[in-house]
Amino acid sequence: MYRFGLIGYPIAHSLSPWIHKEFMKRTHIDGDYEIYEINPEGAFSEKINAFRQKELHGFNITVPYKQKIIPFLDEVDYTAKAIGAVNTVRNKDGKWIGYNTDGIGYVRSLKSKYPRLFSKADRRALILGAGGAARGIYAALQDAGFTTIDIANRTKEKALDIIRLYQVQSQVMPLESVEKQIDQYDVVIQTTSVGMKPYADKSIIEIKNTKPNDTIVSDIIYQPIETNLLTQAKCYGFSLHFGHTMLLYQAQYAYEIWTGIKPPMERMDQELQLILEGR
Ligand code: ATR
Repeated sequence: MYRFGLIGYPIAHSLSPWIHKEFMKRTHIDGDYEIYEINPEGAFSEKINAFRQKELHGFNITVPYKQKIIPFLDEVDYTAKAIGAVNTVRNKDGKWIGYNTDGIGYVRSLKSKYPRLFSKADRRALILGAGGAARGIYAALQDAGFTTIDIANRTKEKALDIIRLYQVQSQVMPLESVEKQIDQYDVVIQTTSVGMKPYADKSIIEIKNTKPNDTIVSDIIYQPIETNLLTQAKCYGFSLHFGHTMLLYQAQYAYEIWTGIKPPMERMDQELQLILEGR
């Protein structure tokens, strides 16, 4: 029997137990996925060492421990190292190996919804934001063959720190320039927390004077499912890509790392959407 879990704070309302239990059902694996809330007050090292004694087969890490976990790992995979954050740990014969599945999960979700985008020779993406999520997505887009990956961020230096790490063609721009240039990209990906509940009326950029075009507008926020940015984009006829699908596919990749099995995803998107709408 497999034992998986999640550490973070606060995580009482996490959707990961539902997702992974669904994967176990779908792949006929006997197991459990529990949440282990770790209060940030007090020494993390003592708590994580006590958690180690539980000997789970694998676990996820969320806010605020994605960086803090790193010194406690025996190995960190190349991508997680480049991102500087770990969201998945596999217990391999007592050794903890850290991964980051966010970027690959994002790209998988985009591919599942827009497969044709991935057969284009020239693929252009613009990322809004330059935090941990942006780093992961940038790396995965490069691996997926995107030829241009630009970043628009409030703090220019943070965006430059990301593009320095990679070889792909990239420019950094202020958020104010995005609207005028949006039609030059195949996909524009919002990775900041701006627009997340309870500030759902906010948007990192305004889409006002834009002609409809083929650009996909994507937001990794999933609460609300349709963010203010996506509502604006919808009004102007853009194709949309929703954040809850990234949540599903980053979990799919984590599950694969733990079990070696890729769970089928049919109807997961719609089922998760219903759960989120009921909240
Ligand atoms: P995560 O690791 O989840 O991606 P993060 O590291 O806190 O989160 O990154 C947050 C990103 O959102 C940053 O790029 C941040 O911009 P700065 O680099 O200028 O700090 C961006 N961000 C957060 N709040 C913002 C706001 N109100 N306006 C513009 N950008 C914002």
